[in-house]
Amino acid sequence: MSKILNYLCHLVLNSLCAQCQEHEVFVAHGSVAVLPCIDETSAVLKTVWRREKSGLEFRPVRDPPRANCPVPNFGKADYSLHIAEATIEDEGKYICEVEGKIRMAKVINLRVVRASFSPAVVVEGLITEATCHVSPGTQSVQMNWKRNGKLTRTTSLSNVSEKDGGDWTCQVAYTGGVVEATTSLQVKGIVTPQDNSSVVYAAVGSSVSLPCIFTDGLIPYTVMWNRTSTTSYSPLPLPASFHESAGPSASATIQRVEDGDEGMYACSGMMKGLNGESNKVQRRMELVVARVLRSSSSGGDRPVTLTCHLSNSSQITSYEWLRVNYGPNDTQTVTSVQRTKSFRMQEVNEKDAGELVCRYYGKHGVLGNATYELHVMGSENSSSGNKTAMVMGLGFFFLAIFVVLFQMYRNYRRKQMILLYPAMETIVHQAATEREQRERKNDFSKL
Ligand SMILES: *[C@@H]1O[C@H](CO)[C@@H](O)[C@H](O)[C@H]1NC(C)=O
Ligand SMILES: *[C@@H]1O[C@H](CO)[C@@H](O)[C@H](O)[C@H]1NC(C)=O
Ligand SMILES: *[C@@H]1O[C@H](CO)[C@@H](O)[C@H](O)[C@H]1NC(C)=O
Ligand SMILES: *[C@@H]1O[C@H](CO)[C@@H](O)[C@H](O)[C@H]1NC(C)=O
Ligand SMILES: *[C@@H]1O[C@H](CO)[C@@H](O)[C@H](O)[C@H]1NC(C)=O
Ligand SMILES: *[C@@H]1O[C@H](CO)[C@@H](O)[C@H](O)[C@H]1NC(C)=O
Repeated sequence: MSKILNYLCHLVLNSLCAQCQEHEVFVAHGSVAVLPCIDETSAVLKTVWRREKSGLEFRPVRDPPRANCPVPNFGKADYSLHIAEATIEDEGKYICEVEGKIRMAKVINLRVVRASFSPAVVVEGLITEATCHVSPGTQSVQMNWKRNGKLTRTTSLSNVSEKDGGDWTCQVAYTGGVVEATTSLQVKGIVTPQDNSSVVYAAVGSSVSLPCIFTDGLIPYTVMWNRTSTTSYSPLPLPASFHESAGPSASATIQRVEDGDEGMYACSGMMKGLNGESNKVQRRMELVVARVLRSSSSGGDRPVTLTCHLSNSSQITSYEWLRVNYGPNDTQTVTSVQRTKSFRMQEVNEKDAGELVCRYYGKHGVLGNATYELHVMGSENSSSGNKTAMVMGLGFFFLAIFVVLFQMYRNYRRKQMILLYPAMETIVHQAATEREQRERKNDFSKL
């Protein structure tokens, strides 16, 4: 019975829509779909929305909370159907039937556009694919992907990187408009640094942190730090004061940077992908060591040249020399003296003594600084080598004096002994002479 009814309804609708044209409504997945149904005659007795998918089906106007017909506005008989958070399941044909002076029926094909990634959460280095789904309809559409506002052709990512994370938009153009559906890709791996081109600057004697921060909740089962030379990639030992930090971050610290610690540092973590596959994520960063070099001239008031030296200065755009003065209560006053790589002073006076700082800049501002302690003339001019010589010289001098004094003391003691026992010397002498004579006699008797 109902089957026959269905069939009859079909016939009626089909005949009705022989004149009426089928409308297509495009909507992005998750947004509000508005299916228009406006009665121009506005003397309505009864309206009903039906949905046709496989056969004919009634759709109560107020029942599902997501679909409703808002109150007709401005006297117009507007029976448009609003569907909140439209999903793929909502797509298909809808029929609006209005019974007024004349019977009217509108057929609307709801087409939902949905963008997605599979998988939507991926460990960097692995594979993911973007899909833009549009339900089939009568008109063909043009589909494009946009990334950060720019069109992109890559939708199949075979080596996901941290940079791929974020929103991706699928744009569907049809006759009558454009619909955009957005999806987001979550990349897990090393968040900081983002790529392999980061450079860390540190002055000799300072402490520096080498960042290696994993995505929240992503725990690698091993973390390893390696160091290579910047030019040859040959392995180098890690500095003596290199420490890996404990806890969720794999960042490392060099407690006291020394000349020669520069190079490429690599942090790598082994982790499980979503399907259990083992995957290694790695970041390389360059450590550039900065220090102040002083010209070798050693005279008291001869010119002194301080040079700001960096192990790799390819990203340095300018230098600045600053003088730092300390006031009461540890107040610091910094004055700029010169804007050059090398700082030349004609003579070094007592007033020049103190802290000099070389600050170096890159394209985006200050990159770091290196401090030099300029001493007052006297102490500054005696280099450590001279000091050693001086200490040794003084040592010899005191040793010589000691030897002389000791000898004098011994002579003095001997004189005292002779004075105390005047006969002693004669006795000793006599005994020695007698022994000699005895020995001589023995020698003659042997012959
Ligand atoms: C993946 O991309 C990174 C750069 O993002 C590159 O260094 C690496 O060699 C690539 N790996 C493969 C297997 O292509
Ligand atoms: C960094 O370089 C390593 C190889 O040294 C590579 O495996 C990794 O994918 C690179 N990462 C990025 C983000 O370029
Ligand atoms: C890093 O160094 C360790 C030894 O300290 C070595 O076993 C490992 O192969 C190195 N890894 C890389 C990527 O060079
Ligand atoms: C210096 O750094 C640049 C990148 O900043 C790099 O391309 C170059 O190889 C480095 N040179 C040396 C000698 O380390
Ligand atoms: C130094 O600190 C003390 C106490 O904090 C304050 O009374 C005094 O004024 C400060 N002196 C200068 C020169 O700022
Ligand atoms: C030098 O750099 C250190 C660390 O970045 C900073 O604390 C200090 O204030 C800087 N000194 C000058 C004079 O800029």
